[in-house]
Amino acid sequence: MPAPLKNDRFLRALRREPVDCTPVWLMRQAGRYLPEYRATRAKAGSFLAMAKNPELACEVTLQPLRRFPLDAAILFSDILTVPDAMGLGLYFVEGEGPKFERPIRTAADIARLAVPDMETDLGYVMDAVRTIRRELDGSVPLIGFSGSPWTLACYMVEGGGSDNYSKVKSLALNDPAAMHKLLDVTTDAVIAYLSAQHQAGAQALQVFDTWGGVLSPAMYREFSLRYLQRIAAELPRGEGAGRAPLILFGKGNAPYVEDLASSGAEAVGVDWTIELSDAARRAGGKVAIQGNLDPVTLYAEPDAIHREAGRALDSYRDGNGGSREGHVFNLGHGMSPDMKPEHVGVLVDAVHQLSMR
Ligand code: CP3
Repeated sequence: MPAPLKNDRFLRALRREPVDCTPVWLMRQAGRYLPEYRATRAKAGSFLAMAKNPELACEVTLQPLRRFPLDAAILFSDILTVPDAMGLGLYFVEGEGPKFERPIRTAADIARLAVPDMETDLGYVMDAVRTIRRELDGSVPLIGFSGSPWTLACYMVEGGGSDNYSKVKSLALNDPAAMHKLLDVTTDAVIAYLSAQHQAGAQALQVFDTWGGVLSPAMYREFSLRYLQRIAAELPRGEGAGRAPLILFGKGNAPYVEDLASSGAEAVGVDWTIELSDAARRAGGKVAIQGNLDPVTLYAEPDAIHREAGRALDSYRDGNGGSREGHVFNLGHGMSPDMKPEHVGVLVDAVHQLSMR
């Protein structure tokens, strides 16, 4: 039996229940800005070796929690584990980010794709989830995650990062039927992956639609939103009090807050280009809202970090009928390797202190 949760603020906020103060966690809270992360990574030899070793993945997941009173842990892994398990051959080039040995370029490539087996092909992820749940010992909830179908397709077709997404957008424009086939099998894989993480012990689930915002509105609706809606509708994630809330995060998703709020997901994560009062108003109380401090704020001095945290908290409250309920504080996107660890401490304390009732 897993230990009962000592700090359930994060899950309560996702259910829009009252909390003593606003919960906070940070995207990419485990990473190169922490010297202890760099030490573990050096010992492992590479990022992938670390992510594929459940004990080391657990160790780096817990590192930020030992320093800061964060209200959730996020599984240490990567969104690209799924296409890797589908046979694309993930590797990293120092300074260039992720790459695939066998990118998807043709209808024949797409026809060969299948949903990977969660306990054999991705067993190392499920082992990491089980190990982390055990080591957390009920201190805070554990978030599992996946990339969105569109964002995964971007990497699968481009073969790595991209400046203009010309290959994946061309495929969508030239052969929409093939693109939908790719997105369909990827959506099936994402649903199986998130469901397996939930069964292994993840208490909340987040989908990262990092590149949805590079699409025109018509293409966003056809190639990203539609599949996010399918995940929200079909993902098995438990019922009642044991239900794992689903958070749909997207960079550049501000124009679509209403659509995302009616998708059936429990929460919508937004970036810093939307005022939180606006996001809360437009979500209309249907979902919790997660976000949305500009991550670059962490480069500023402590006074500015404190002030901006207060501004974001108050903005949410103003758009949510004067109540802080239903807000999970986060950055609008991930942390960077050259950020100061002390500034994370300043932010986390500011959020708790300024939202305390
Ligand atoms: O938030 C967390 O602490 C959990 C861990 C996490 C990582 N990647 C670890 C990681 C999560 C949630 C991700 C998701 C991810 N991976 C996304 C979506 C989130 C987002 O930022 O929008 C994307 C687009 C990826 C693909 C990816 N993996 C990129 C672009 C990179 C960075 C390459 C680089 O060299 O900067 C990675 C590698 C990666 N994933 C690192 C970490 C900590 C850096 C690896 C290292 O130690 O060198």
